[in-house]
Amino acid sequence: MRNAPIGVMDSGVGGLTVVAEIWRQLPREQVLFYGDSLRCPYGDRPREEIAAFTFQALDFLVAQGVKMLVIACNTATAVCLEEARIRYDVPVIGVIAPGARAAIAATMNKRIGVIGTKATVESDSYPRALKQTHGGLHIRSLACPHFVSLVESDRVDREQAWPIVFESLAPLTNEGIDTLILGCTHYPLLASVIAEAVGSSVKLISSAEETARDVSLWLTEHHMTRIEWQDPAHLFYTSGSAERFGYMGERWLGKAISVHHADVWASEEKAL
Ligand code: DGL
Repeated sequence: MRNAPIGVMDSGVGGLTVVAEIWRQLPREQVLFYGDSLRCPYGDRPREEIAAFTFQALDFLVAQGVKMLVIACNTATAVCLEEARIRYDVPVIGVIAPGARAAIAATMNKRIGVIGTKATVESDSYPRALKQTHGGLHIRSLACPHFVSLVESDRVDREQAWPIVFESLAPLTNEGIDTLILGCTHYPLLASVIAEAVGSSVKLISSAEETARDVSLWLTEHHMTRIEWQDPAHLFYTSGSAERFGYMGERWLGKAISVHHADVWASEEKAL
């Protein structure tokens, strides 16, 4: 089992930010990724639908024999993490607690901003995770519903992204925050534009690095790190176009990836 792959899911390409960190911190591990690009974004959908889609993806990964699940999507983590930990025999790691931890370590003035999808912000998961560890924080959450489509449609350059990013983040500018949690795995792909909009004094927190650290810690402590010496053959699945996903994957991971198309739902549900 320790040579089995790590299963990673996201609603689209955002979870690749977590894959990049897993590769950096755990280069011998094999990753099996599922990105539900056809049904992305999840963030504006009702909770029941987010849960149904997420469990289809996680069931698919478990059926492939993964040794661990990483929900590399804040929206899916906010809605499904607790239930997923009951449902599966393999460990399940989400991205919210690691992001909250990194923000607490980074803030000096205890004023933290959180941006995410509508579902993540409405779930109140970040404020809860932050306050659970630190009682004296000022937290300002903001939904940025347009950012995911900028990333999924590869419009992340300054020229195309700036008007939307600047306008969306305007409510945060007078909050005096020194730390901003990018509470959506798509947002690090817009980091330079976000940084310009909030100012250079604000530290941006992506949960990818800290999440990969959690993966590493768990595997090490449980003697579950991969022990085969051959280079791992990573596999990527998407509900959307494999060609498109391959292009985005190569762009964000810096190397060509092997992508297959997979429908993880029964055909009659496709219309959802
Ligand atoms: N990547 C997902 C997240 O971290 C959001 C994208 C979506 O709305 O589907 O929340």
